[in-house]
Parts: sequence; C-alpha cells; structure tokens
Amino acid sequence: MPLSKLIASLPIHPSKTSSIQRLMRILIHSGFFATKNVANDDCEVEYVLTDSSMLLLKNNPLSMKPYLLAMLDPILTNPWHKLSTWFQSNNPTSFEIEHGMMFWDYACHVPKLNEFFNDAMASDARLVSKLLVDDKCKGVFEDLESLVDVGGGTGTLAKAIAKSFPHLDCIVFDLPHVVADLEGSENLKYIAGDMFEVIPPSNAILLKWILHDWNDEECVKILKNCKEAIMSKDKGGKVIIIDMVVMEEDEKKGDDKSVETQLFFDMLMMVLLTGKERNEKEWAKLILSAGFSYYKITPVLGLRSLIEIYP
Ligand SMILES: C[S@@+](CC[C@H](N)C(=O)[O-])C[C@H]1O[C@@H](n2cnc3c(N)ncnc32)[C@H](O)[C@@H]1O
Repeated sequence: MPLSKLIASLPIHPSKTSSIQRLMRILIHSGFFATKNVANDDCEVEYVLTDSSMLLLKNNPLSMKPYLLAMLDPILTNPWHKLSTWFQSNNPTSFEIEHGMMFWDYACHVPKLNEFFNDAMASDARLVSKLLVDDKCKGVFEDLESLVDVGGGTGTLAKAIAKSFPHLDCIVFDLPHVVADLEGSENLKYIAGDMFEVIPPSNAILLKWILHDWNDEECVKILKNCKEAIMSKDKGGKVIIIDMVVMEEDEKKGDDKSVETQLFFDMLMMVLLTGKERNEKEWAKLILSAGFSYYKITPVLGLRSLIEIYP
C-alpha cells in the first residue's frame, strides 16, 4: 500500500507523518517491509509485507505474534538490565535477581506470565508441528506406539502429532499450573508432574525446547529420567529432542543472521534460566553422560535440529 494510504489507515497524528516515513525506513532495512514502485504518474512507492512480517499478523494461522509480545513483556525484558549485577553476584540468574524467584516458580505464582508464556510456546509449536508432522519428519513418529511430550506446555505439538498418528497414544507431561484443567482426547492425555522426579513410561519421549533451559547437570538428570521411562532400543525406545545445535566456525560463513540469532538465544537462556545453546560436541557429551549410546542430528527445522537419541 502507498505511504499516503498507509498513514490514512492508521490512527496517526498529522504531526507524526514524517516520523512514520523514518520508521518505515528501518522496517524495510530490517526486512519487515519491502517496497515496490507503483505504475502511476507519481511513481509512488508501495509498501508490501515480507515473509517475516506475515508471521506477525494476528489472523495468520501460523502467527508468531504471541511469541514476539512475550519476549517484549517487561517481566522478560527487565532481567536483561540486571546482567551487570548478576555477573558480580552468586545468584543463579538475572531473572531471579529481578523477580526474587526462578523462572518456573514465578510462572506458577504469576498467572499473567504463565498465560503469555504458554501462548508464546503454543505459537512456536504450531509452526514447528507444521514442519514436523505435515512434512519431511513424519517418519520419526511412524513406528511408535506411545509418546510422552515432556514439558509439552499446553499440548499444541502433541495434539498435532496425536491427530496425524491416531494409533499413537500421546501424553503431555508438564507442571501442574500448566496442564491443570486441560482436557485430552481419545489418544491424548495430560499428566501433571516434575521431570526431575519421574517421567511416565512410554515408547518414546519428546523434548522440544526443554534441554536448552537447563545447565549440563540438570540436563543429564532429565535425560537419565527419560532413559528410565523409555523401553529398550529393540522396542523402538528413543528420545526425540528439538533444540538448536550451535553452528561451528566453519559452518558460520555467510550466514550472519542465523549465527546472531543462535547467539542471542544463548544470551536469553543465560538471562532467564540456567540453560544454554549447545554445539554438537556439547550435545554429544550430555547424551553420552546420561548413558545413551547413539545420536542422530537432522537439521530440518531452520535454526533448530531434530536430535534422535537411543539407549
Ligand atoms: C520452553 S517451554 C517449552 C514448551 C514446549 N515443549 C514447546 O516447545 O512448545 C518449557 C516447558 O517445560 C516445563 N517445565 C519446566 N520445569 C518442568 C518440570 N520440572 N517438569 C515438567 N515440566 C517442566 C514448563 O512449564 C514449560 O512448559
């Protein structure tokens, strides 16, 4: 749409017209809008959405708007201002310095955080499930009889899997404040619990965006509990991890934005939680320390990978 029409369609004060032009300049530079010339006498420029900004439209079924709004909420942004204090302290996270509690305890006590964080995760899970079950990764689930999505949030990904594989019994396992009151379906159940205690037994376990939240010691504990819960390798037992594998130096060339995004996610894990983003060597160390014998990494989800690990 041409700038004049864009301005007319928005509740913008006439004194801010030139500021909008400046705003559009940076939004174009950062890839949220593109321009094209309109074929008229004024050679007016038209602004069009890009793939990135389309993902922010609220009526796009794959909208990432809840994710963006969550990341911009002061509950999550204020801890960034505590980084300097954190470096000089013995506190576990900047989040804990800001809010006096660890992230998941705070989510249990503050319904607003629980709600917007679960919505944010659900928006990401919608996008991932599109690739995971509708597309090239289907084979990962095909021979399974049961699956527990550990830390599965409100169940968006598990619901998509349960729908695509009606023979598969799915469980969403998460903390009580996340899954309380949620209703399952024929092949999907919600179970409240703590993955550091015990995980319900099943054929396979899914860990999407779980291990990057935790430090190495905590991850080994979670993985050992997963190993206890799955059946042996002969019976198809495996753990399916969806997380980033940080690019090595030789893979980084020419992909600056991807590298930057992975490194900022690593900072996010440092500010909010005790976790980190790991490279392949760090993943291998975790997996082997937890007693698994083999892993396979498939880089199919953009900056994230599918990591299948076997006892
Ligand atoms: C980053 S979110 C990922 C949610 C979901 N897997 C996804 O990617 O959309 C981490 C999840 O782990 C859950 N969680 C945190 N601590 C847990 C624990 N001790 N036991 C079970 N779930 C836990 C949180 O409630 C949250 O839903």
